[in-house]
Amino acid sequence: MNLTVCILAAGQGKRMRSDLPKVLHRLADKPLVGHVIDTARDVTEQDPIVVYGHGGPLLRAAFEHDSIVWVEQHEQLGTGHAVGQTLPHVPNDTMTLILYGDVPLLQSSTLQELVAAAEITGFGLLTVELEDPSGYGRIVRNESDEIVRIVEEKDASPAERAITEINTGIMAVKSDYLHRWIPALSNDNAQGEYYLTDCVAAAAAEDIKIAGVSASSVAEVTGVNDRKQLAELERQYQFRLATELMERGVMLRDPSRIDVRGELTCGRDVEIDVNAVFIGKVILGNGVVVGPNCVIENTVVGDNVELLANCVIESAEIGAASRIGPFARVRPETVLGNSVHIGNFVEIKKSQVNDGSKVNHLSYVGDSEIGRNVNVGAGTITCNYDGAFKHKTVLEDDVFIGSDTQLVAPVTVGRGATVGAGTTVTADVAADELVISRVKQKAITGWTRPRKKSK
Ligand code: UD1
Ligand code: CA
Repeated sequence: MNLTVCILAAGQGKRMRSDLPKVLHRLADKPLVGHVIDTARDVTEQDPIVVYGHGGPLLRAAFEHDSIVWVEQHEQLGTGHAVGQTLPHVPNDTMTLILYGDVPLLQSSTLQELVAAAEITGFGLLTVELEDPSGYGRIVRNESDEIVRIVEEKDASPAERAITEINTGIMAVKSDYLHRWIPALSNDNAQGEYYLTDCVAAAAAEDIKIAGVSASSVAEVTGVNDRKQLAELERQYQFRLATELMERGVMLRDPSRIDVRGELTCGRDVEIDVNAVFIGKVILGNGVVVGPNCVIENTVVGDNVELLANCVIESAEIGAASRIGPFARVRPETVLGNSVHIGNFVEIKKSQVNDGSKVNHLSYVGDSEIGRNVNVGAGTITCNYDGAFKHKTVLEDDVFIGSDTQLVAPVTVGRGATVGAGTTVTADVAADELVISRVKQKAITGWTRPRKKSK
């Protein structure tokens, strides 16, 4: 049976104390509802239906490149009412899977299990046991252990409140049942809401069996209501990713001190020290070592590269056996060849550095093309910007740039040329030449340094 997914996301999220709609708060740098949408796409090819109430324009803008069926719920009259708004978009002959936009860690494997159960009886319900079930709808079972009703906390008797099996809110129901039951829901209850959960009693009344499926962990069905819960789920999520990485053979110095905000792919024998942050799509080759406190975004790192402590790398490519850092900043559109050394306090932007070249200390290299086996001395600066335009610096193969050189772009230093320390290069240098533009050293003998009078 085809699967229609409805994601309920109309709640305001008052307890976040934020101007941002709750479901746009980010977990691993992705909006909460984005996680749910991605999980939905794992289980069905149909575009998900998202019910929103607050911050519609913000929501739509956040997903402008996604194909989503947006449904507005003007007033939040309850979960049953929310699903009711989607019915015009729900075909009769599908299975409807109801998800919550603020429950980000739900796994597609659990949903597949739930849907498989619902295929048999027509109604699958995801439940979980909680030590402290307060606030949740309780699962009421009969003598034969069949689910017959969900009672909301506010409507529950003391005996019902003692039940520790709760409703996660996630369910899979044949769509024609929803078309029949939802319009018939009443709001005659403690909260004056249309409860989606009353569909359970409606099913029981028609002798439709409800297949209960247990969630694989509490975390995967936990919703975010405040920032504390968001932070807790972030750690849970990160620990899940860290565990997967270790299972695939990655050495994590401390699995509780890594953050993956996107997709991290690792080769064999990768070692990652503490507090590394990976953003977007990052690929680490075989034998890569990532030092402590590195931030790496949308970057491909070749085999056996060593990233020493405190490097910040964004949208770059790093060739095999290169050594970067400590304290290096590699900015977008940088391509480093093999066995390149980028040392401490070096900033490198939109530049190509070819095999075997070194920029080891305190330099700024921008808009440059550096050949093979070039040595760029300490404190070298490319003066790439004239206040209006950026210009290019070209250092051909085997060039040697002495320390404290300024390369005023556009400028080309020819193959094998040498630039003496302290030179300001303002014109192209021919191959194999030596250029120096240094003031000649003067010696003044008999000069005394000013001194403070002693008291
Ligand atoms: C609901 C269930 C409860 C379950 C709990 C799990 C009902 C009546 N109760 O509780 O049994 O234990 O979830 O968290 O279904 N929403 C809308 N529109 C609305 C109301 C809610 O879109 O009018 C969305 C919210 O944004 C949220 C989800 O539905 O994503 C659940 O709403 P919430 O108010 O958190 O749950 P309860 O109704 O208290
Ligand atoms: Ca100088």
